[in-house]
Amino acid sequence: MKIARFSRVGFILAAAGSAVGLGNIWKFPYITGEYGGGAFVLVYLITVLTIGFSIMIAEMLIGYLGRMDAARSFEKLAPKNAKTWRLAGMMGIWAGILIMTFYSVVIGWILHYIVVAFSTLPSCVKEAEVAFNTLLHEDIMTQIFYHTLSFLFISAILVRGIKAGIEKLNLILMPLLFIIVGGMFLYALTLDGFAQAWHFMFSPDWSKLSSEAFVVAVGHAFFTLSLGMGAILTYSASLPKEVNLVQSSLIVVALDTIIALLAGLMLFTFLYQYGAEPSKGPGLVFISLPATFYAMGTLGNIFAILFFFALAFAGLTSAVSLTEPMVQYLIDKYSITRLKAVMIAGGFFYLVGIVALASNSSSFSQMLTFGSKNFFNWVDYITAAFMLPFGGLLMAIFIGYKIPKEQVFAVLGKNLGRGFEFWYFILRYIAPIALIIVMLNLLGVIKF
Ligand code: PFF
Repeated sequence: MKIARFSRVGFILAAAGSAVGLGNIWKFPYITGEYGGGAFVLVYLITVLTIGFSIMIAEMLIGYLGRMDAARSFEKLAPKNAKTWRLAGMMGIWAGILIMTFYSVVIGWILHYIVVAFSTLPSCVKEAEVAFNTLLHEDIMTQIFYHTLSFLFISAILVRGIKAGIEKLNLILMPLLFIIVGGMFLYALTLDGFAQAWHFMFSPDWSKLSSEAFVVAVGHAFFTLSLGMGAILTYSASLPKEVNLVQSSLIVVALDTIIALLAGLMLFTFLYQYGAEPSKGPGLVFISLPATFYAMGTLGNIFAILFFFALAFAGLTSAVSLTEPMVQYLIDKYSITRLKAVMIAGGFFYLVGIVALASNSSSFSQMLTFGSKNFFNWVDYITAAFMLPFGGLLMAIFIGYKIPKEQVFAVLGKNLGRGFEFWYFILRYIAPIALIIVMLNLLGVIKF
């Protein structure tokens, strides 16, 4: 049983810290660029505000009622089919630690770019491209060095536990992140490129919405809200009793969406303003952006430093939430100390992370490429496109069909008011159907 509990503000910031991550500032802009802008953004927004918001409430409820790690909360709430439901929790726990294998590597790239921002930025896109590709394909040692720093930092926070570690980290870093992104967005508003960025993100061109883009948009909605994996569930197990789950979910979804949109608009404004390409793939913030900052002069240098710090803050607060479900599981299951649990969970993502970063390198990529993707990209794809939406589907079914309606109503009824039936309907019918379509599409059973 847990002793330390989040404060209400601490919980909201921690859950928002989990949601607002590399997904918002690194991934969202580049997949928006890759999949053509407006239509993609619209599918993502609709998913976030309907299915995402509904499942966020459901996931919080499982943790709030279960009060244990992700696997045992399911078990405890469904004693008749405990073994089966436990698997839903286990899948989430593994998804988190698998995501960490590439997430920590990307945080490492960001730490490296903080150092670059303090020294000399690349003077053009070509130079930036060479620098990033060299880091990615040739410079394994630098990547391992920063991946190690990232691992050490995340472990140091997790060892301190819920209150002194996770809550405190978020109380400090999240406000800083909001100030940096908000401030840079306000500056972007004054530039001519803003109109183009707005047009790119909010004018849907439906012909560009391929079926893959649809799957990626829904998958990203889950990834960005940290849903389907047990991170939000694990945090909710340490909630004070009197908290309003609906309001908390709403705040987390709103903050996450606002930061993604602000970051996207800001990045595309800078890129349009200084003539760089928006469709650069994962290298967008590491290639196009540094060159753009260079073109902005001294202000650009300051922006580069602030931007990469903000990105690191976003990444680290999410990283602790990706690892904590496994840590909590190990503590609950094997009655080991937090230190041991952190070493096991951290050790796993650290070592497999080295395989992930090696799979991008020219020396090992052949060995670590399977079919169309290398190890790094497979982990990203399988977790975001499959495991999280599938986890979300199981959570919707669990709260929608497995837990008695009266029990659900007893917690959420007064907060949802007349919206309760509507939410319950989305959870029981709309979310599962939409997610099953996504899964079938992913498996190639249906195409549209
Ligand atoms: N939401 C995080 C992001 O947008 O980067 C990633 C993430 C964190 C996914 C925690 C899943 C999770 F459980």
